[in-house]
Amino acid sequence: MNLREDKVSEETKKLISSLPTDKDFQGNLCKYQGSWYYYNTLQGVINFHNNFQPQETDIILASSPKSGTTWLKALTVALSERSKHHDDHPLLSDNPHALVPFLENNLYLKSSTPDLTKYSSSSSPRLFATHMPLLTVKEGLKGSPCKIVFMCRNAKDALISLWYFSGVSFYGPIWDQVLSYWRGSLEDPSRVLFMKYEEMKEEPYAQLKRLAEFLGCPFTEEELESGSVDMILELCSLRSLSDLEINKSGKNVNGVDYKFYFRKGEVGDWKNHLTPEMESRIDMIIEEKLRGSGLSF
Ligand code: A3P
Repeated sequence: MNLREDKVSEETKKLISSLPTDKDFQGNLCKYQGSWYYYNTLQGVINFHNNFQPQETDIILASSPKSGTTWLKALTVALSERSKHHDDHPLLSDNPHALVPFLENNLYLKSSTPDLTKYSSSSSPRLFATHMPLLTVKEGLKGSPCKIVFMCRNAKDALISLWYFSGVSFYGPIWDQVLSYWRGSLEDPSRVLFMKYEEMKEEPYAQLKRLAEFLGCPFTEEELESGSVDMILELCSLRSLSDLEINKSGKNVNGVDYKFYFRKGEVGDWKNHLTPEMESRIDMIIEEKLRGSGLSF
């Protein structure tokens, strides 16, 4: 039995038999609601749909793989914890992925009814992450008005980052996933915030303020004057996070070294890796897929 299929229920097997399927060198894949999943991850999606009990204050951090998820998680933790911690800030002793677990490929992958109490506190919202497309996320939220933040990154940079990380492209197609959040953010901007990795790099101060406002926890005048925005940006910078002991020597629940989540963090690193032919092929596909949407990435 392939390890990526050992958690699949009879009901999910039946569902899979009705879906488009494919395989990569790690295992079998199926396409559900527009996204490719290993079978176990699909089981995680189904468990999430069946059993997640949303709270109105929950915040969902969504992204394509290798698009700045770790950074978004760190920034959101730092924003929501900013009035509480100083020396014992959670980001100093835990990796952002441990603080903001993935729904479908962590919590609901391991159990159909995971214990979420650890992620609840009376004063901060619960934070969860996902790589699922918007439609699939919304199904699990069952009409609850939770805020959703999506981090988008240039597809060629995400591709190179993924190549260094694992060499395997999971989820996707990236354009369908990104478009689902783009359209969602246009339809309901108070519910879905669409952020870009490149804009975060270009104008981090303004983007962090935008994120705080969207999440309903804007910086006060006092905080702005006391340098709170810059402090959060510094705490969550690639350099600071990757320098912490937990991120140098820790591992995630699947045994992956946290240090692999921090590499260069640059815009345009694809130029060092793709030939002009590869570049124009990818550009052509993306242009075709995004045509008429008003989005470029
Ligand atoms: P590179 O491989 O291009 O360096 P994810 O967090 O979604 O897995 O994405 C990983 C990418 O985000 C990696 O990109 C990584 O270096 C970059 N990254 C991680 N932490 C970051 C941070 N705090 N600030 C900016 N980029 C960060």
